[in-house]
Amino acid sequence: MTDQPEEANGADAHAVSVAALDEVAAATETASLDAIRARYLGRGDGLLTVFRKRIGTIADPEARRAMGQMVNALVERVTDAIEERRATLSATADGDGAADAIDLTWPPPPLRRGHLHPVSRVFRDVRRIFAQLGYMAVSGPEVEYDRYNFTLVNMPPGHPSRDTQDTFFVDNDRVLRTHTSPVQVRSMIIRGAPQRVIVPGKAYRRDYDATHFPMFFQVEGMCIDSGIALSDLKGTLEFFARSVFGVDRAIRLRPHHFEFTEPSIELDVSCAVCGGEGCKLCKGSGWLEILGGGMIHPNVLRNGNVDPTRFSGFAFGMGVERIAMLAYGIEDGRLLYDNDVRFVRQR
Ligand code: DAH
Repeated sequence: MTDQPEEANGADAHAVSVAALDEVAAATETASLDAIRARYLGRGDGLLTVFRKRIGTIADPEARRAMGQMVNALVERVTDAIEERRATLSATADGDGAADAIDLTWPPPPLRRGHLHPVSRVFRDVRRIFAQLGYMAVSGPEVEYDRYNFTLVNMPPGHPSRDTQDTFFVDNDRVLRTHTSPVQVRSMIIRGAPQRVIVPGKAYRRDYDATHFPMFFQVEGMCIDSGIALSDLKGTLEFFARSVFGVDRAIRLRPHHFEFTEPSIELDVSCAVCGGEGCKLCKGSGWLEILGGGMIHPNVLRNGNVDPTRFSGFAFGMGVERIAMLAYGIEDGRLLYDNDVRFVRQR
């Protein structure tokens, strides 16, 4: 994490020179021009002179040279303006507008170009990868009925799994959705079968630490057709993992439990840092867990008016921040949302 003082200095020097030029243009007698020269160009502590001294502190030689050239040009421009103004004043011919004219040789202030946030970048990549496989991106409400968030995805009232979700309640019937899974049922009801959709969107939980945030992004995926099998999920996730983490990544499916899928799996990808040897990122295991999924539970298909005797499907859900942390080697995910410019400016 490095700030870029040379850029900030460049912009500051530019601003100081603009102020100097304004004063020069407004000066009506040569005595005030002398004062302006002393204030801005004075040998020891002139407001513009001091930038000369900072040049030496810039580590990067390229940036140092650029800054040097820029400060010299600014000093020269202010010096010239003072002399021009002096000539104008002593000829008592004022108001020819020369000070306002556009000078195309004037060095512009340095531009700082923006770029996408790591989370936006992963979000965009995930959408693109699944678009290649024919998935349509759909959305659902963030203030969701309890029924859709839990009951219809096989977590009935009183079910202990509800306790694990750290839910924000809105009123008796509604919650801030704790995952994007309720959109599975919504999409089944709207689109029927067959269908292939992803649901990129926000979810909310009462949680805050290095890997959990009260607002976070998930991408849900769902594919329903006749004869869909676990092997289809495996092939799809392999394509996804290699697209995000690199073609030489291996994947493995581990058995797991989710209420809305049966069987359920978790997907691991071989560690992008050590390639499977074991390191700090993968905690010595050689594998990184990236998402959960499985074959959609027949109850969930029925809740979406899809006939489980005719159709089967797989679903999966991933946390976008987790993928961003793994892809970019970010150890504390809170950095993603703290808006510390030293972090977000990094490319
Ligand atoms: N909804 C799960 C969560 O938020 C993620 C998930 C797991 C989604 C398995 C799925 C799935 O569709 O099949 O933790």
